[in-house]
Amino acid sequence: MKNPVAYLLVFYLFLSSCSGVEKEEPYVIAFSQCMMDDVWRQAMMLEMNIEASNYDNIRIVIADAKESNETQIKQIQQFIDQKVDVLIISPNQSDSITPIAVEAYRKGIPTIIVDRKIGSEEYTTYVGGDSYEIGRIAGEYASAFLPENATIAEVWGTKLSSPAQERHLGFINGLKKKNVNIKTVVGNWRREIAKKEVSQLEDFNDIDLVYAHNDVMALGAREAISERDSALVSKIIFLGVDAAFGKGAGLEAVANGLLNASFLYPTGGDQVIRVAMKILNKEQTDKKYILNTAVVEKNTARTLLLQSDQLINYQNRIEQQKRNIDMLFQKFSMLRHSLFLILSLLALLLFFAIYIFYINRKINKKNKQLHIKNKESEEQKQKLICLNEKIEQVTSQKLQFFTNVSHEVRTPLTLIVGPLEKWIKSTPESPLLSDLKLMKKNADRLMRVINQLLDFRKIENNKMGLTISQVDIVAFTENVMSLFEDLAKSKQICYEFVSEIPTCKIWIDQDKMEKVLTNLLSNAFKFTAVGGKISVQIKDGSDRIYIVVRDNGVGIENNEIDKIFDRFYTGSVSSGVGAGIGLHLTQEFVNMHQGQILVESVPNDYTIFTIELLKGKDHLPECFPLVHPEDRVDLASTSMNVEKPDDLLAKKYNYTILIVEDDPDIQTYIQSEFAPNFSTLKAGNGAEALAILQSENVSLVLSDVLMPEMNGFELCRRIKSDADLSYIPVVLLTALTDDSQRIYGVSEGADDYIQKPFNIDFLKIKIIRLLEERKRLQKRFMQTMQAGGIPIIETEAKIESLDELFMRKFVDLLDVSYENTELNVEKISEELGISRVQLYRKVKEISGLSPVDYLRNYRLSKATTLLNQKRYSVSEVAYRTGFSSPAYFAKCFKSVFNMTPTEYVSQE
Ligand code: FRU
Repeated sequence: MKNPVAYLLVFYLFLSSCSGVEKEEPYVIAFSQCMMDDVWRQAMMLEMNIEASNYDNIRIVIADAKESNETQIKQIQQFIDQKVDVLIISPNQSDSITPIAVEAYRKGIPTIIVDRKIGSEEYTTYVGGDSYEIGRIAGEYASAFLPENATIAEVWGTKLSSPAQERHLGFINGLKKKNVNIKTVVGNWRREIAKKEVSQLEDFNDIDLVYAHNDVMALGAREAISERDSALVSKIIFLGVDAAFGKGAGLEAVANGLLNASFLYPTGGDQVIRVAMKILNKEQTDKKYILNTAVVEKNTARTLLLQSDQLINYQNRIEQQKRNIDMLFQKFSMLRHSLFLILSLLALLLFFAIYIFYINRKINKKNKQLHIKNKESEEQKQKLICLNEKIEQVTSQKLQFFTNVSHEVRTPLTLIVGPLEKWIKSTPESPLLSDLKLMKKNADRLMRVINQLLDFRKIENNKMGLTISQVDIVAFTENVMSLFEDLAKSKQICYEFVSEIPTCKIWIDQDKMEKVLTNLLSNAFKFTAVGGKISVQIKDGSDRIYIVVRDNGVGIENNEIDKIFDRFYTGSVSSGVGAGIGLHLTQEFVNMHQGQILVESVPNDYTIFTIELLKGKDHLPECFPLVHPEDRVDLASTSMNVEKPDDLLAKKYNYTILIVEDDPDIQTYIQSEFAPNFSTLKAGNGAEALAILQSENVSLVLSDVLMPEMNGFELCRRIKSDADLSYIPVVLLTALTDDSQRIYGVSEGADDYIQKPFNIDFLKIKIIRLLEERKRLQKRFMQTMQAGGIPIIETEAKIESLDELFMRKFVDLLDVSYENTELNVEKISEELGISRVQLYRKVKEISGLSPVDYLRNYRLSKATTLLNQKRYSVSEVAYRTGFSSPAYFAKCFKSVFNMTPTEYVSQE
């Protein structure tokens, strides 16, 4: 079914042809009449129509020559040209009409001559009465009424017409009387002419009988005679011919007594049609159909008149029926058209239904094919997904392995770098010093690469977060720059720092930004020749800060500049692009700050890296700004302790540090490093540590995280949830650098968190500061409490109104529940509707104490008040202030006030 419209068209044409069972084209029967306006010919037409109504396949076309030969010839010629099916001619005058009638016959048109004759035998059939016989019977009939020597007035039809001549001849021959005097008048078949001609006769008195060739002329003659002498008409016998029915015709005249008799001259209208039908049906016809005649007198006329009335009646009814039939036919035809239309529509509908069915089937087929294809591609997709999953799994396993190896490498590296540093410091005069420095430099480099790899892995795993704090970016940059000062000196590089502004505080993750700057600077030093120039500039852009690192080194080729931030991209040997992932990490770190890093370079001329960082912190993602009071960069400038690091490290402290570490090398290393400053205890895992804590008086727990049996988080959680131990600070030490781990550690109550690899001095200072700061706070706290104040020790952090509100809620809660021994950090965070991490951060930020310490101190402050009142025993005070036992109360009291409660009371 390529073209459904074409099929539809063919189908429609087929239907249309089926509907064409319209009426067949009817036969045309042409009738050339010499005249039409007399009653005899009207009767003829009536008879013809009655007969024709029996057939529905003929159409009668009539032409009236109005007694003109020329007109009749013309009209017959037209019929010949139209090639009518049958031609009927009633000639006006025989001689004039004969040639055209013969021509029609010769041209193959069936020709029927009616009434009057032609002067040839070349016609198909003749239909008419026998005018001679009529004349003869009329002669015989007249003879019976005529006296001897009678006078007859004979009114002629047209002299050149055959009936007139035959009727005269027959009459003369039919007369039995001799010596008859005949007066001849020519009436030309017309009543008026006959009347006129008769009236012109001089004398009517001798006339015994009038014989007219037709009834209307007989009546005209009677009228003429009557007009001259009305009495005379009753004495004269009037005979006519035709006996036609109709108003003013012969039959009526005979019935009314106006004529004495008439001789029937049948019109033959019905016979003519029958003969025509025979011809059309190709049936055999006679050459002549001679119609019978009869004498019609008064009585017969009446009967015939009645019959003719009935005939007319019938004709009227037939015509009415015909009209009805025509109307019905019209209706039928309309219905047929409607039916055709409905059938067409139905066919159309059927066609469309079939077409839709066909299309539907086609679509279904296509759908099935598509379904199969889909299934196939889905299977392929699944295979690919599976494969991809496997690849991802393998890649992840590889990366995990790689990460684990990196962690593994970091620990021994820590143990190499630490002793090396110590060696370099303690033997400045050693001849091996330059070698030691070289070793240290390369170990540092190795450490940096490993750290970069671990950072990269964290970024890939989306585990890298920001730990932001507010930093003076000018001092920060200068600090980072200072790490390269020795290198600049040794490479004789002009190393410059310029800042448009003296100071500017912005929010950054110091660790990451330090890595960014370190990476850019170490690249600059790597690719700048001896005697070159490296500069760092800070520009102020109102809402942002630009850090521009410029060098005049080898530069970066144009075709490489777009790729330098791609991970794993390594430039050509000569280009100023570092090998590995440093620049990729740099860009990632800057992007994490919602900043931008741009590069511009001309090979062998210069390279400029511009870091763009926004001021404020609205642009930074929701992150967890951990409080790091100190770190590597701030190490020299802590606000909490004015003592220099070297001075701090030179002292021996009265603290016992419990080192929890499963790696014996690190354990030994830390212990040996700690020995000059603290007393130390060792444990191989959390469980061992807990056991030691039960018996020993420990000032601080320094614990690794990943350990067998009990890890550092669990140990921390156990310490902080044990009422007897919770006051002991815990510092976690781990190789895992995930922020999530750090957050987890803090949420378990860790007081600080130190990443491996650590600088041992940094770790020691951190511990010293933590313990000293605690001591200092306790002192201040005691003073506050002794002065009857609320134990909030405000840190340098500005207390904003929301924090104030929070702190108020927190203290209110303690105030109503401190007596409850069950009250702990979990309960407090639950009551306040915040997480433990948030609770820790807020309380620590505002008070400088962890929530556990704050609660303990709060209880102690209440206890001192009660002790001062001297109304309760020490045990009672312990229970009244929510301590689980008098022994624990005493322990806590001593750790804060450096004396037992009993000593405190007696001292009072
Ligand atoms: C009618 C008529 C008849 C007559 C016939 C002869 O026109 O005059 O009265 O019988 O013609 O042709």
